[in-house]
Amino acid sequence: MNKIYEGKAKTVYETENSQEYLLYFKDDATAFNNKKHDILENKGKLNNRISTFIFQLLEKQGMPSHFIKNISDREMLVKKVKIIPLEVVVRNRIAGSLAKRYGLSEGEELKNTMVEFYYKNDALDDPLMTEDHIYMMRLAANEEIQEIREMALRINKVLKNFFLQKKIHLVDFKIEFGRTEDGRILLADEISPDSCRLWDVTTGEKLDKDRFRRDMGRVTESYEEVFNRMREACV
Ligand code: TMP
Ligand code: ASP
Repeated sequence: MNKIYEGKAKTVYETENSQEYLLYFKDDATAFNNKKHDILENKGKLNNRISTFIFQLLEKQGMPSHFIKNISDREMLVKKVKIIPLEVVVRNRIAGSLAKRYGLSEGEELKNTMVEFYYKNDALDDPLMTEDHIYMMRLAANEEIQEIREMALRINKVLKNFFLQKKIHLVDFKIEFGRTEDGRILLADEISPDSCRLWDVTTGEKLDKDRFRRDMGRVTESYEEVFNRMREACV
């Protein structure tokens, strides 16, 4: 198969169908724009399963994505889209770069959910962007930016409630969108503990990639914990 793109955690391949791509989930973990790298056995499988579960959940709630189906432990068939080079971050609590940038401590719930945009560009270290910057860089039209914002907030509502039923706080997450050939905007990439902050409601324990970024150990074990809780029937 023809490789289209190799990212840090996934590889994208062409398929026989010109409208579909295949995503291969790798075990590579990176942080701080690749300065930190490791192989975490089974991470790819877990992220494929968790992303599949989340895309299916969103679909049931009327929010489609590029997801078509799971083909193997590490492979997902998706609709072909051209990724918009924006990292769309939704925040429910203060954490990570938000805490760092403004000298705040992590944990407090935000009164208003925040949506932030970062320019997906490794060479520039993914700088924060305002909507005017997105427009200036011709990454998206104003109506598209509003559509992306609204989709991000809708996705947050569903996922925040879902995780809360699993006794997990969805602190923040990053999503990406792509354009289909006919110009529709679709949720793409993955949604997994690599791209979310997930804190246990009772203990506050981190169940996400911060365990890798901050050398806390038990990284894949935590991803597994998230997956096991997700699979339990909702009460
Ligand atoms: P941040 O607080 O470091 O800006 O991260 C916000 C959210 O985005 C957090 O859930 C982790 C996720 N994220 C990614 O998925 N990829 C990235 O490259 C970064 C920096 C954050
Ligand atoms: N994904 C980014 C990297 O590889 C950073 C991160 O998730 O913290 O460097």
